[in-house]
Amino acid sequence: MISAVPLLEASSLTRHYAVSRGLFRPKGLVRALDGVSFSVDESRTLAVVGESGCGKSTLARAVTMIEKPTAGELRIAGVDVVSAASGTLKRLRPLVQMVFQNPYASLNPRKKVGTLLEEPLAISAKLGPGARRDAARAMMARVGLKPEHYGRYPHMFSGGQRQRIAVARALMLHPRLVVADEPVSALDVSIQAQVLNLLMNLQEELGIAYLFISHNLQVVRHIADAVAVMYLGKIVEYGAKDAVFGRPAHPYTRALLASTPTLDARARRQRIALKGELPSPLNPPAGCPFHTRCPHAIERCRAEVPRLEPFGVIRVACHRAAELS
Ligand SMILES: Nc1ncnc2c1ncn2[C@@H]1O[C@H](COP(=O)(O)OP(=O)(O)OP(=O)(O)O)[C@@H](O)[C@H]1O
Ligand SMILES: [Mg+2]
Repeated sequence: MISAVPLLEASSLTRHYAVSRGLFRPKGLVRALDGVSFSVDESRTLAVVGESGCGKSTLARAVTMIEKPTAGELRIAGVDVVSAASGTLKRLRPLVQMVFQNPYASLNPRKKVGTLLEEPLAISAKLGPGARRDAARAMMARVGLKPEHYGRYPHMFSGGQRQRIAVARALMLHPRLVVADEPVSALDVSIQAQVLNLLMNLQEELGIAYLFISHNLQVVRHIADAVAVMYLGKIVEYGAKDAVFGRPAHPYTRALLASTPTLDARARRQRIALKGELPSPLNPPAGCPFHTRCPHAIERCRAEVPRLEPFGVIRVACHRAAELS
């Protein structure tokens, strides 16, 4: 289905958390997600990459409507979910489903596979027990589970198969977008490719879009159409996968690529080790958030926040992108 509006569109999406810093001290503000803008089209995969704590899961919780954003806009199929009435939200929620990192924790161990898959239908759809059972069995076949698995408990499965169960459960309500938060990070490397291939096949068959969160650039290179690189709650580089991987424009993206085993030719030439600690989103640096670790930082970078702006075919938030390219 090709339509003019993107399936998912975020504008300046923001989520801050007020946190206590101890008795008699003013509350601090964690800028977990600090004004991100991006879109995901039907049947496409946007990968979100960045170090631990950069706000990836916060973004996932906002997009899946688990948490309300502090500011900004979020539209699903053109409908603003931030200001939506509860009836509209109820209609939109099934369109976006989530697959979590750890299928050991995300699947209730006391429920059989069949029950786990039929549960979402019992809540949202008006199907009788027979129809629910048929739908569960059909979905099991689709994700590569056997009919006899229907009556088994999650602990009887390997990690990869558990993640298949989690994917099947997420798909029961026919979502248009699946948010997958590090869906293969907890699995053995040998199993990761199987689950990634399953996700890609399902996309081709069902036309689902993915917001695919990962810190692993090799995984991202395999699965993404577009990439958003996050740093301290902000997107610092955003564009088509081939453009971002082939010609990374932000020093942070280059550093990330240089630190992965399959070195990109350009990243290898301009190898930058990521030095220094990641600053806290509770007390982010002034100016460019990356300036404290950037080998190219100049005075302007310490003072002025760079905006995510068009740069060739991609977008980048770096004052020196043109000079350094
Ligand atoms: N409920 C909360 N209250 C306060 N701070 C929070 C809350 N949730 C997240 N944070 C903080 O927001 C920042 C972003 O967290 P988030 O979990 O989104 O990062 P992440 O990119 O998913 O990291 P990881 O790769 O480790 O999963 C972190 O500094 C985190 O400590
Ligand atoms: Mg996370």
